[in-house]
Amino acid sequence: MAGIEVRVRPMEASDLAAVARVTDAAFGRIIGQLTGREPAAPLMPPLLHSTRLATDPAGCLVACGTEGDVTGAIYSIARGTLGWFGPLAVSPAVQGRGVGQMLIAACLEGLRGRGVRLIGLETFAESPLHVHLYAKFGFRPSWTGVGFRKSIAPVPPPGGVREGTTVPDLGFVYEGLDVGAEVAVAAGHAIGTTFTTDGGVAICHFAPTFEGAGAGFLPFVAAATQPDFRRLFDAVEGACADRRLTTLTVHVPGPSWQTIDELVTRGYRAERVGVRMKLGENPNYDGGDFFYADNWL
Ligand SMILES: CC(C)(COP(=O)(O)OP(=O)(O)OC[C@H]1O[C@@H](n2cnc3c(N)ncnc32)[C@H](O)[C@@H]1OP(=O)(O)O)[C@@H](O)C(=O)NCCC(=O)NCCS
Repeated sequence: MAGIEVRVRPMEASDLAAVARVTDAAFGRIIGQLTGREPAAPLMPPLLHSTRLATDPAGCLVACGTEGDVTGAIYSIARGTLGWFGPLAVSPAVQGRGVGQMLIAACLEGLRGRGVRLIGLETFAESPLHVHLYAKFGFRPSWTGVGFRKSIAPVPPPGGVREGTTVPDLGFVYEGLDVGAEVAVAAGHAIGTTFTTDGGVAICHFAPTFEGAGAGFLPFVAAATQPDFRRLFDAVEGACADRRLTTLTVHVPGPSWQTIDELVTRGYRAERVGVRMKLGENPNYDGGDFFYADNWL
């Protein structure tokens, strides 16, 4: 199919409604194709879009047609030296004409320019087309991401956990890893909070940024030791129960087996598996001797 004339530019708050429409239409169609059942819009909660733009405005881009209309969008986050992108979407009317690749190329250039050394994404496990698309940029499809969910019950408050924005050094996960922007947005936009211990951090969303209303969501957890991990999860589950949330969702990199083991012991069930693809330095960092969960969508 012939290429198409588009301009890629930074996303603005005034683009969010159009971006949400394009994203819902694109994901509705691909999920319909992959599963035989097209989900009803809105697929992604409105808060997802505004939260992601607030977290890393430099990493969010749109593709516009000659009339200025939004035909595609990509979100990304630079967590210091670690970056990931998604969701990426192109309007079904212009798919297959190079817009997606333009957005990915611009996003990668931006992330690298800001010092990101390893970039990741998570895509559909059952779509070779997607693996092909990202492999063209050098992303290797060697990893999985597993979504876990648990029904929440009250938990007594643990000792040694603080609530606030001072995060311990996360160099034990990846040198230069920094989740400060997500911590600030969780607090500043009243969507959640951050729990810390001397050796760990858990960013927790109570508002529907990813899951629907009534469900808690953990976009990021890192703990140097098992006691840190257990205290953080006790604090998060207790906070969800206090707010009458019914479930908690967390995404774990497949290589982080000791994290998966802990979650299963706590009563979490795996409910979704994606293919994770990575490009850059030290891509096997997530199989290290620590406890770790991060969402790449
Ligand atoms: C995936 C997506 C962003 C690609 O954007 P696009 O503008 O259609 O892609 P491009 O035209 O730049 O690139 C097409 C390449 O991607 C691959 N591809 C992956 N998914 C595709 C799709 N649904 N339609 C067309 N091409 C697709 C093709 O194989 C093609 O490679 P080739 O030219 O070497 O054969 C777009 O199709 C889309 O929005 N899909 C629905 C949402 C989605 O799947 N998002 C990504 C989730 S990880």
